[in-house]
Amino acid sequence: AGALRGVVALDGPSGTGKTTVARKLAGLLSAGYLDTGAMYRVVTLAVLRAGADPQDAEAVAALARAAEFTLGTDPSAPSVRLAGEDVAAEIRGAEVNHAVSPVSAVPQVRELLVARQREIIAAVLAEVGGIVVEGRDIGTVVVPGSPLKVYLTADPAVRAARRSAQDTAAGRQSSEAEALASVGRRDRLDSTRATSPLKPADDAVHLDTSELSVDQVLTALSELAGQRGLLG
Ligand code: DC
Repeated sequence: AGALRGVVALDGPSGTGKTTVARKLAGLLSAGYLDTGAMYRVVTLAVLRAGADPQDAEAVAALARAAEFTLGTDPSAPSVRLAGEDVAAEIRGAEVNHAVSPVSAVPQVRELLVARQREIIAAVLAEVGGIVVEGRDIGTVVVPGSPLKVYLTADPAVRAARRSAQDTAAGRQSSEAEALASVGRRDRLDSTRATSPLKPADDAVHLDTSELSVDQVLTALSELAGQRGLLG
C-alpha cells in the first residue's frame, strides 16, 4: 500500500477493535496514529491521583488544565506519559475505566483536549502527511472535514469478549460478564452525554466488525482509503 495522505477518522464504541485496527492501519500506511481515548484516560488518571471526585466538573476541569501529559504518535510505540511517567498500562485499568465517562462528559475537558488533538494532528500532517485518529467524535467534531470517516460497530457480546481478552492478555483480572456490564454502562454514558455524544457522522462509512478478523477490517479500510484517493 502507498502512504496515507490526510486524516482517517475512526470512531465507535469500545470493543469494536478500533485501537488494534487504527494502530495497524497507521503502520501499514506509514502514517501517524492518535488515540484520543488515551487523552481522556490520562486526564482521568490525573483526577484520581489528585483524590478529586470525577463527578465534580469544576475540579475535573481545573485538574485537566494543570495535567502535564504527552502522547506519542508512532503507531509502533504509542507512548502515554503523565508528568514524565509512563502510564500506558495504568490508564487501561478498572479505576480509570470506571471514572473516564464522567470526566469526558465535562465540556471544558473536551474543549481542551479537542484543541490539543488538533495541534497534534496538524503537527503530524506537516511531518509525515497522514494520520489515523481514533475516538468517539473525530468525524463529528475534531476533524469534520476528514476525507474518510469510518464508524466501527460490533455486537455487544463480541465487544465484551474482546475487552475481556485484552484485559486478560494485559494481566488484569477479567470476566466476560463484567466486561459486558462495563462496556454497556460506558456506551450508555458516552452516547447520552450533552457535549459531543458518541454518534456516527452523517457521511461515515459503517463497518460491523463482529464477524471480521483484524486483517479483514484492515483490508476493507485500505481499500476505502485507496478508493478515496488518499494513498500517495
Ligand atoms: O476508546 P477508549 O475506550 O480508550 O475511550 C475511553 C473513554 O474516553 C470513552 O469511554 C469515552 C471517552 N472518549 C471520548 O469521549 N471522546 C473521544 N474522542 C475518545 C474517548
